Amino acid sequence: METKKNILEIKNLHTYFYTDGGVIKSVDGVDIELKEGATLGIVGESGSGKSVTALSVMSLLMGTRGKVAEGEILLDGKDVVRIGEEEKRKLRGGKISMIFQEPMTSLNPVMKIGRQLTECVLQHENISKEEAYKKAEDMLRMTGVPRVERMMREYPFQLSGGQRQRVMIAMALVCKPEVLIADEPTTALDVTIQAQILDLMNNLKKETGTSILFITHDLGVVAETCDEVVVMYCGRVVEKGDVKSIFANPSHPYTKGLLASIPKLGVQADQLESIPGSVPNPKYMPKGCKFAPRCAHAFDQCSSQEPGFFVVEDGHVSRCWLCEKKGGEE
Ligand SMILES: Nc1ncnc2c1ncn2[C@@H]1O[C@H](COP(=O)(O)OP(=O)(O)O)[C@@H](O)[C@H]1O
Ligand SMILES: [Mg+2]
Repeated sequence: METKKNILEIKNLHTYFYTDGGVIKSVDGVDIELKEGATLGIVGESGSGKSVTALSVMSLLMGTRGKVAEGEILLDGKDVVRIGEEEKRKLRGGKISMIFQEPMTSLNPVMKIGRQLTECVLQHENISKEEAYKKAEDMLRMTGVPRVERMMREYPFQLSGGQRQRVMIAMALVCKPEVLIADEPTTALDVTIQAQILDLMNNLKKETGTSILFITHDLGVVAETCDEVVVMYCGRVVEKGDVKSIFANPSHPYTKGLLASIPKLGVQADQLESIPGSVPNPKYMPKGCKFAPRCAHAFDQCSSQEPGFFVVEDGHVSRCWLCEKKGGEE
């Protein structure tokens, strides 16, 4: 099997929020490896620490009470946790960029689209304004929006939700980042536009070689777009591996529950019916396996001792005591 280098390595990441009510351990010992040119999906219910992981990678925790308490985030071998603010700012929108769930949070409402995109280019490239404007226009055209020249002269409020999402994608990609983080980029959009945006991301990936960290709660989308999958629960990785291996041979009861709750075409699913109960309050984390209180297969050891990773298949690991009975320890 060919081995590609990891463009991004998250090692033993702990991101905590120091609130008046105590310390919230939102991300508590996460390891994720993103291979060059690959798309890796991060899945898990709301509150599992997906966005906080992404914000840690982007160094976007300032203005919150959050902090990387421990661990490393190696981008192309360099630890971005331990570099200065100026260097962090240069990385964002340069080597690495992010598409957020809500486009308005990353677009400036009082600046024309053309100028926003152009400024993005100028921040990272030493070229003339005219050249940067042209580059911005070309990228916007690649996202498939009609009447690009006119849109460059419009303000965000003059665009539809789908158009704004495309502008944000253009903005995230205009500097050809090595790593693109997409945090539930299509959740706010209707289904046909969702499909178009996903196609677009895949095409751009083929053209530019960008590696993608794709955060979603939609496992159907993961099956179509990702090479690898990381399943998160309570600030931890509970299972990860090759997309084929995870779908064909899911091991962790939580992953199995998520897979069983993939909504059928045309059926609206707001709740994960196959997983009873809900994500525990971070202030009252269970002692052993964090999923044990909701797990139909839990036995004594599960509630007293947290499992480490066990190998399910080559490159596929699961944090579940049931695997110990079947296979080897990592
Ligand atoms: N700014 C914040 N202050 C305090 N707690 C936060 C903050 N942001 C996120 N959290 C907590 O961190 C946990 C993980 O959140 P998040 O990463 O947003 O989950 P996900 O993206 O998987 O839905 C949640 O319990 C959430 O309440
Ligand atoms: Mg989130």
